[in-house]
Amino acid sequence: MTQTIVRPTDAAEVRVPRLQNKVAIVTGAGSGIGRATAELFHREGAMVVAVDQVAAGLAQLPADERMQSVVADVSRRADDERAVATAVDRFGRLDALCNVAGIVDRLLPVGELTDEVWEHVLAVNLTGPMLAMRAAIPAMLLGGGGVIVNISSIGGLFGARGGAAYAASKHGLIGLTKNVAATYGREGIRAVAVCPGAVDTGISLGGDPSPRGLEALNATLPANPRAAAALEIANLILFLASDEASFVNGAAIVADGGWTAA
Ligand SMILES: NC(=O)c1ccc[n+]([C@@H]2O[C@H](COP(=O)([O-])OP(=O)(O)OC[C@H]3O[C@@H](n4cnc5c(N)ncnc54)[C@H](O)[C@@H]3O)[C@@H](O)[C@H]2O)c1
Repeated sequence: MTQTIVRPTDAAEVRVPRLQNKVAIVTGAGSGIGRATAELFHREGAMVVAVDQVAAGLAQLPADERMQSVVADVSRRADDERAVATAVDRFGRLDALCNVAGIVDRLLPVGELTDEVWEHVLAVNLTGPMLAMRAAIPAMLLGGGGVIVNISSIGGLFGARGGAAYAASKHGLIGLTKNVAATYGREGIRAVAVCPGAVDTGISLGGDPSPRGLEALNATLPANPRAAAALEIANLILFLASDEASFVNGAAIVADGGWTAA
């Protein structure tokens, strides 16, 4: 990795925004963690390409010359390529990609899974980030490197925080992140996974939960202290996307208030 090492600033110096002159794509930016991330990146000086399939959510983001909305379905290759092309055409480069868009699966165990739920959850949560990274990496390499932050879940590390499709997609996303980190790290691209616990957002279980899946999840709940605010996860994503995290590559970082520590 050939990234800038951030040194402590003298207290008398003016604080420089942490993502000044950086160009970032944030998917799922219309709601929850993605919206908090897009707003925070914008506040910290980034030029942001905000991607979501729901235009109404994107319309609530700050509207100025450093924020560009793209209505897109991340599970479609052409849409991911369009998002990257928008970053390069509009802002001239791409420094960061945050794959935040994701869906859940009604906590369905394997015995209750339909092909449709399996394929949809895998398409959005795992194929989507792969397509976005495949489109983004050549653009990042042209600029000398970049950062990818993939939002997995504690459901990507443990078996009872989601249904079978969600668990498989989020475990798979951690593996995909590590492969990108190991493969492209020497060329200046860092890839990191974030594993939130419960976060207070608009995400729903995607319909009626499976009683068996809900029972398994509920068994873990006594150890869960609370739900995070979306901003608490966005703050971690900001750190990881910034040069302050220059030596963090290939890690899966848990932010769950201690839920899985107990
Ligand atoms: N909320 C939690 O408790 C929690 C916990 C762990 C991990 N996560 C993960 O965090 C991420 C964000 O979740 P959130 O809680 O902010 O949910 P959210 O529902 O508030 O936001 C998700 C956003 O993704 C968008 N989206 C969904 N499918 C899309 C697609 N195919 N193309 C483009 N946009 C799409 C939605 O429109 C929505 O705006 C997800 O990957 C989720 O799995 C959430």
